[in-house]
Amino acid sequence: MADLTVELLGMKLANPTVLPSGILGERQGMLEAAAKGGAGLLVTKSVTLRPREGYRGPVLVPTPAGGIMNAMGLPNPGIEEFSRTYAARVGGRPVIPSIHASSPDELRQLAMAVDRLGPPAIEVNLSCPHAGGSRPDALVSQDPAETARAISAICTNTDVPIIAKLTPNVSDIVEIAAAALYAGASAIAAVNTFAAMDVDVNFERPVLGNLIGGLSGPAIRPLALRKVADIAVAMRTGCIDQAPIIASGGAASGEDLARFILVGATAVGMGSAVYERDAGVFAAASAELDAWMQAKGYRRLGDFRGKVIDWLATEKECADEPIGKAVERAAEAGKAAPRR
Ligand code: SIN
Repeated sequence: MADLTVELLGMKLANPTVLPSGILGERQGMLEAAAKGGAGLLVTKSVTLRPREGYRGPVLVPTPAGGIMNAMGLPNPGIEEFSRTYAARVGGRPVIPSIHASSPDELRQLAMAVDRLGPPAIEVNLSCPHAGGSRPDALVSQDPAETARAISAICTNTDVPIIAKLTPNVSDIVEIAAAALYAGASAIAAVNTFAAMDVDVNFERPVLGNLIGGLSGPAIRPLALRKVADIAVAMRTGCIDQAPIIASGGAASGEDLARFILVGATAVGMGSAVYERDAGVFAAASAELDAWMQAKGYRRLGDFRGKVIDWLATEKECADEPIGKAVERAAEAGKAAPRR
């Protein structure tokens, strides 16, 4: 058997699969099912300061190209109730709380509340593509300065490692990752859903209750791979700090796990795959990854992590200018007390 264990931010994971924040994980039962189903790491659904009911349905719609469109509306019980039920481990797996807020001040309050729960890390969701309903404002992680401001607001209120969950809905995800790392994030989660909508031709209206939403599942896998690879190339060429990448975007099998690890991911989320199959997908994908590694002669994940980046990073030089500008704006905005 190959060694599938992963070291991530001081945690030792049994395998690289992750239940990501997103459409699942709102209830303790889902975390338990994912742990039982073999996930190496559990991330809760994003929690907000006050309870949110979520949007009216339909909130989840499968798409013919193989994927799910969602606009759930971040339903969650709010931080007070969340704190009563949170456990740092479920079924022997570490549990990372994900937080979402609409201002740095809310993030500050959430960071303090979550810090008291003793989590192994905190994910900050800067990337729900429809958090503002059907008339979304720009997302925090569409702007390096806003990203740094948000990360600084958290980092000044907790020493727990911060994972910045980024949107793919940007032209240059590297400058956003640069700003997040500069402001003190310890890891990057990439990516959240791609902004999307579909149309019901009978009713002549958008299919989602919220009208617009985000697309996940197999249809976005190559798009997500490209975003993760862009970040990994920038890390390899020294344009941005090295940090673990927790990838997500359409992974559904052991080969998909291998694909994301080949482009530099440390761990890989599987969300839509759980919805489309069941929580057993984590153990199944890990077993498939094990078989793939054995066939290839790999003993550890580190034996092939980032191997595809060798193809992409060779001719590339660090494009100092855009990254420099992103960090400059980040520093200005965050009045950044960067953690490093
Ligand atoms: C939702 O609850 O609407 C999805 C969460 C997300 O995309 O971050």
